[in-house]
Amino acid sequence: MKTEKITVSAIKKHKAEKKKITALTAYDYSTAKILDEAGIDIILVGDSLAMVALGYETTHFVTVEDMIYHTKAVSRGAKRSLIVADMPFMSYQADLKDALINAGRFIKEAGATAVKIEGGCDHIVEVTKRCSESGIPVLSHLGFTPQLLYSIGGYHVQGKTPEATEKILKQAIELEKAGAFGVVLEMMPEESAKTITENLNIPTIGIGAGRYCSGQILVTDDIIGKYSDFTPKFVRKYADIHTIVKNAAINYKNDVIEGSFPSESEIFV
Ligand code: KIV
Repeated sequence: MKTEKITVSAIKKHKAEKKKITALTAYDYSTAKILDEAGIDIILVGDSLAMVALGYETTHFVTVEDMIYHTKAVSRGAKRSLIVADMPFMSYQADLKDALINAGRFIKEAGATAVKIEGGCDHIVEVTKRCSESGIPVLSHLGFTPQLLYSIGGYHVQGKTPEATEKILKQAIELEKAGAFGVVLEMMPEESAKTITENLNIPTIGIGAGRYCSGQILVTDDIIGKYSDFTPKFVRKYADIHTIVKNAAINYKNDVIEGSFPSESEIFV
């Protein structure tokens, strides 16, 4: 029997039913398969790919082609989870037409069901509206938005004052009106994220935004301890894959050098 894909309406219903939404990132087939089997609602092919899997210093360097390549692999691995692909830096900012064409490629070529778009200025609201009307569901992203890193001036918590929270809330309301099916809130004080969540009909998915969001998202490589360059305060580490893989590699190396690998049971006669 074919597994039923989670839909954006199902994700929206979670909020009304007070069921927490679970979301994690994946960039490849085998990770997507594991997250899918684990029952994770949303798999985001995040542009964190740039830093975590490709070794760049920021997310700016990943291209639409990179993102499509990895989204295709994730799509092949996930049968049930909703797949959301991140629109990379400068794939939607310059021009509405480009934004629509690029967003469409994630659905047509890569097998995603939705795209994530950072920011809430008028242009982004327009892009969100046109994508939604064209059948491309949009997950918005407010608070700390990594593609604005250089303008923000560092990895700073956003929405720290009532005025700043108000501004983000206004953008979130406009994005909701434009058709966004949810909003990722990144690195915000818990109270600010709570106010925003309570004033929206669509769900919020927090990353470093406290306990009152409608769901949570984290970078998988952070929670399994695979990406060790930097671990943000809001990450909970559930495994230490770095050490496990390193020890496996050391043991393999020693076995090869000593001549104990391959053994008789590991050869063809
Ligand atoms: O790129 C990313 O991984 C993200 C986060 C929200 C997890 O945008």
